[in-house]
Amino acid sequence: MIKKDGMQKINKEILNLKESPLYEYRITNNYFPVIGEGTEKANIVCIGEAPGKTEALTGKPFCGRSGKLLDEMLASIGLDRQKVYITNLVKDRPHDNRDPSPEEIALYAPFLDRQLEIIKPKVIVLLGRLSMYYIFSKTGIATELTTIGKMHGKLYKGKLSYGKVDILPLYHPAVGLYNGGMKPQLFEDFKVIKKFI
Ligand code: URA
Repeated sequence: MIKKDGMQKINKEILNLKESPLYEYRITNNYFPVIGEGTEKANIVCIGEAPGKTEALTGKPFCGRSGKLLDEMLASIGLDRQKVYITNLVKDRPHDNRDPSPEEIALYAPFLDRQLEIIKPKVIVLLGRLSMYYIFSKTGIATELTTIGKMHGKLYKGKLSYGKVDILPLYHPAVGLYNGGMKPQLFEDFKVIKKFI
């Protein structure tokens, strides 16, 4: 119950985040902010970059084409989507699918921090390099950062205020959409999560 209250408070604050450079764009397009989906009791939290159009139209993370591939990867290791919590570093859709700016990340990341404080996951799965850069800095292991090409599929150990956390950087699922040849690698990397289920 307390976890739910904390999440609802975050939800309300983001809904009213008028100072965000993405707020007007949200309102003009009848978009929703995408706060996150899944159980607050999850051991595993997956963090993407920012919502795409389908996500902004529905308010649900990873429900478009990247989401379909993510669902396939979850199914391939027998992990029920309802058992994890899925969210993004930035909660509103940036214009025309561009990457969120450093200022937008700085504005939205504290909400992600609070979500992690509420859920206290043991494992954080990073979908893409932007969440990787942020979470490595946040968990005190920024010195281990190189490129996603070198780090994907390898486990790292970091620390958050509530304790130790295993961190798994992965390629963003969209990589498998624009380069089908990468798909087997995405599925292979996902197998690392199996031991935490
Ligand atoms: N890409 C992301 O990073 N997040 C989503 O929710 C959808 C696509």
